[in-house]
Amino acid sequence: MAREKKQYVCSVCGSTQLRWAGKCPDCGEWNTLEEVVVRAPEKSRSSMAAGDSVSRPLSLLSIAQDDLPRLPLNMSELSRVLGGGIVPGACVLVGGDPGIGKSTLLLQMAADVAAARGPVLYVSAEESAHQIGRRASRLGIRDEQLFILSEIVVESILDHIEAMKPVLVIVDSVQAIYSGNSASAAGTVSQVRDCAAALLRMGKAQNIPVFLVGHVTKEGTIAGPRVLEHMVDAVLQLEGERFHAFRLLRSVKNRFGSTNEVGVFEMTEKGMDEVRNPSELFLAERLPNATGSAIAVSMEGTRPLLVEVQALSSTTAFSMPRRTGNGVDPNRLLLLTAVLSKRVGMDLGDQDIFVNIVGGMRVDEPAADLSIAVAIASSFRNRPVHADLAIVGEVGLSGELRSVGQLVRRLNEAAKLGFTRALTPRSSLQRRGGDTLPKGIEVIGVRTLYDALDLALVK
Ligand code: TYD
Ligand code: MG
Repeated sequence: MAREKKQYVCSVCGSTQLRWAGKCPDCGEWNTLEEVVVRAPEKSRSSMAAGDSVSRPLSLLSIAQDDLPRLPLNMSELSRVLGGGIVPGACVLVGGDPGIGKSTLLLQMAADVAAARGPVLYVSAEESAHQIGRRASRLGIRDEQLFILSEIVVESILDHIEAMKPVLVIVDSVQAIYSGNSASAAGTVSQVRDCAAALLRMGKAQNIPVFLVGHVTKEGTIAGPRVLEHMVDAVLQLEGERFHAFRLLRSVKNRFGSTNEVGVFEMTEKGMDEVRNPSELFLAERLPNATGSAIAVSMEGTRPLLVEVQALSSTTAFSMPRRTGNGVDPNRLLLLTAVLSKRVGMDLGDQDIFVNIVGGMRVDEPAADLSIAVAIASSFRNRPVHADLAIVGEVGLSGELRSVGQLVRRLNEAAKLGFTRALTPRSSLQRRGGDTLPKGIEVIGVRTLYDALDLALVK
């Protein structure tokens, strides 16, 4: 008979406590401890012993040599975020808000792999096989090797995998499945953890990659314990504004590649379309001589992205003027208006200021400061920004421009899209080291926000 004892697991940090408390002693969050019943393993059959009986020390060289090839993907954006295809035996957690397109993207990936490599098992614990079938036909997916299983018991899912030996397994979602062997109720922290662990163990033992869909909580973290993120090899996050078609797939953790990669997709009526050249798309509807519009060169990971920053300044009808930002950090916006008032002498005290990043994008890096400040000044002074100008730079509290990272990469992207001039902090130019600047773009280094406005705005 297995011994049972009670423990308490924090749903935020995943720490285990012996006693219940209102506040987690590790992360300090309130009301997050959940009761878990653990069974002490029977001595002769510890859960690991069955699959991993051959663990012994290996020479590093012998391991490196027997690297299995990755499964290549046709969707190059997805492939890049994964670090160049799917690693056999890898366990990948895909998170994102409801309705953002996780199931759609993974179904497309499943079809992609099924067509090229062989059987793929798509386990749907939330939708019926019929619903998935309808979605697939809408996406134009018809694949003999793509199998849909509507099942919620993890043991039975494992049996199907055993019998079928697919090249890829997708479980949508990990919160909706449960294990009959686990003593706690379905949907609890320990259920999610046990199910994920069982799938992960199977994947590692048989070299089958497993993709788990995870829900996102109100707070924006992947629901279930943080331990889930620690367990898996990679965590991908699908983000986007609900009312915009763009979706960014970000790698938050990746044991097999860089976490700086971002894939850009567009949600269409035919599923998720890859956007190979996002900058072009974000600038497509721009009016070149409108006031209050500036082009920022921001970085998403290692990828430069040109986005249009729009600002509107108008005299307020209230005693307290408003500063409203969409896609920018509100504190940054306050700071920039203060610097414009104090250091440039712009009288913004009676102006409502609205800033928007076009296309539902977010730019949080300080390198976008200068473009935001220029856009505000352009609207306030009613003078357009030169249409051929791309802008990068962080603004300091004294109105000085501070250097930004990866300048040459940014300038290359701007030059590629036909911008002939770029405004950058002078210190960035001095600090760029031996990298050569791209041809066809005149790079202007300036020291202060005041000088930058002078150069950026049409006289
Ligand atoms: P879905 O993949 O079900 O999201 P998730 O699994 O993350 O909850 O996508 C749901 C939304 O996507 C839904 O609002 C409809 C929309 N959609 C399209 O716009 N085009 C399509 O081809 C498909 C399949 C869905
Ligand atoms: Mg879904």
